[in-house]
Amino acid sequence: MGGDKAMENGTDWLGLSGAKVLIAGAGGLGSACAKAFDLANARLAIADRDPDRLTGLSEVLGQDCISIPADLTDPDCVRDVVAEANSVLGGIDVLVHAVGINIRKPVLEIDPDEWHRIQTVNLDSAFWLSQAAGKIMTSQGHGRIVIISSVSGLLAHAQHAPYAASKGAINQMMRVMAREWAPFGVTVNAVAPGYIETELTQEYLNQDGHREALSEMVPAGRLGSPDELSGPVLFLASRQASFVTGHVLYVDGGRTLV
Ligand SMILES: NC(=O)c1ccc[n+]([C@@H]2O[C@H](COP(=O)([O-])OP(=O)(O)OC[C@H]3O[C@@H](n4cnc5c(N)ncnc54)[C@H](O)[C@@H]3O)[C@@H](O)[C@H]2O)c1
Repeated sequence: MGGDKAMENGTDWLGLSGAKVLIAGAGGLGSACAKAFDLANARLAIADRDPDRLTGLSEVLGQDCISIPADLTDPDCVRDVVAEANSVLGGIDVLVHAVGINIRKPVLEIDPDEWHRIQTVNLDSAFWLSQAAGKIMTSQGHGRIVIISSVSGLLAHAQHAPYAASKGAINQMMRVMAREWAPFGVTVNAVAPGYIETELTQEYLNQDGHREALSEMVPAGRLGSPDELSGPVLFLASRQASFVTGHVLYVDGGRTLV
């Protein structure tokens, strides 16, 4: 696998040229990560339940990336996705989990279906994907797992109870995986963004005054862009982060400082 593209883009220092990367989630943040890995000359398999997003992303990437439409809440489906990526790519060096949903409601209004849906999409998919990829990575003796958590895993945002619970659980799950798999050369970390403009947040941010009010809570004075998340993800996925494991890296313009 040549390193020219990575050299042209100044990303060769990450050593991701030819890396076999499975990205779960082709939404705003998953797509930004896919584009950044592509610029670093990595090889990509991307899974999402929405085939249109997968098609759109693979057209933009212009490389032979493998698109795998799948519902990632189903453990059997997840095992098939990871097996397919492993077989077509010839291994999996990196897993990025960028799948998630949110339903903003007060605690007293959340019904059982909503609670369950958020936990299965956000947390269960992260567990089953990491478990299946971790099996491959521990046996091959190296691997990087990066899970997109959220500042909601730490802060008590109103109307975020199920989402916050899923992200807090992701952080602790990630720490246990990091501890169990460190002896096998596998690192597991989370990246926790503040508000970033993607489809997940757009409708909410477009409502009267929301964008302005949220920006005021960020010491940097603004919301983030998807590209500002992909750099930290690539770092954690790279050989430069070989001794970094079990961390939640906040990418939030200082939101968790105040
Ligand atoms: N955008 C933000 O401000 C922000 C902030 C903090 C954390 N996050 C987290 O980042 C991750 C990615 O968010 P995003 O902003 O890219 O959201 P997004 O809505 O743009 O993308 C989420 C993707 O998940 C996919 N998905 C949902 N359910 C699925 C399922 N059952 N099986 C397979 N795919 C499924 C969707 O099709 C979509 O492509 C999520 O975990 C989210 O919680 C986002």
